[in-house]
Amino acid sequence: MDIKVLANPQEIGAAAGKIFCDFIRNKPDAVFGLATGMTPVPTYEYMANEYAKGNVSFKKLTSFNLDEYCELPREHKNSFYSFMVDNLFSKIDLDHKNINFLDGNAADPAAESERYANAIKAAGGIDIQLLGIGRNGHIGFNEPADEFSDEAFKVKLTDSTIQANSVYFDDVPMPRYAMTMGIGSIVRARKIIMIATGESKAEAVKKMVEGEINAQNPASVLRNHPDVTVFLDREAASLLSKSPESV
Ligand code: F6R
Repeated sequence: MDIKVLANPQEIGAAAGKIFCDFIRNKPDAVFGLATGMTPVPTYEYMANEYAKGNVSFKKLTSFNLDEYCELPREHKNSFYSFMVDNLFSKIDLDHKNINFLDGNAADPAAESERYANAIKAAGGIDIQLLGIGRNGHIGFNEPADEFSDEAFKVKLTDSTIQANSVYFDDVPMPRYAMTMGIGSIVRARKIIMIATGESKAEAVKKMVEGEINAQNPASVLRNHPDVTVFLDREAASLLSKSPESV
């Protein structure tokens, strides 16, 4: 795990965004794993700006998002699909037929999981995965659990996650369930970029880097992956016992 501490969310967005842009410049038909939430907003801004300047094209990109709420129409403003359209997909030249999302309203979650696993396989696997981290250490919506999941599944969201995300819902109550890629499907990505900003993530970051590797501490599993880069701001890095070198 390569940990870099940068000054602020904008610098993190530029550093992470540059990695994704460089990646697709080298491999135009790359497969990206994408995350939603507030943390990646500057990363997507960087990518959209690079596209606007004519510095990169996403024409042949295939994308897979990590998760989606259940019992929320895909077109609802708080769906993760809408988030991606608003923050990235509407601003770049990605072919919309190459966008992949879990269907939070699938009647049969097991069949939906199989469909997603097959789609990832057919695309050749995920080349590079962007991740945020929950205050409770979740990645995707893999909440602390008794065992690591493998492929996508329907998850009951924890109180911590509901508290963190319900502030964004003003017309309907925040869904209590989501479909998420499993830990196995996340760590099969060949390269992983994790970003975390702010004091509210400091405890989760400390546990990811220094805590026991187990399913109660989901992000800890990334320490077993051979190619993970973590970008933190000073607040998110503030509880680490050994301060990683700032760059
Ligand atoms: C979102 C996701 C979540 C978020 C995490 C942090 O697709 O998978 O794991 O990355 O909840 O969210 P923010 O960035 O809003 O703090």
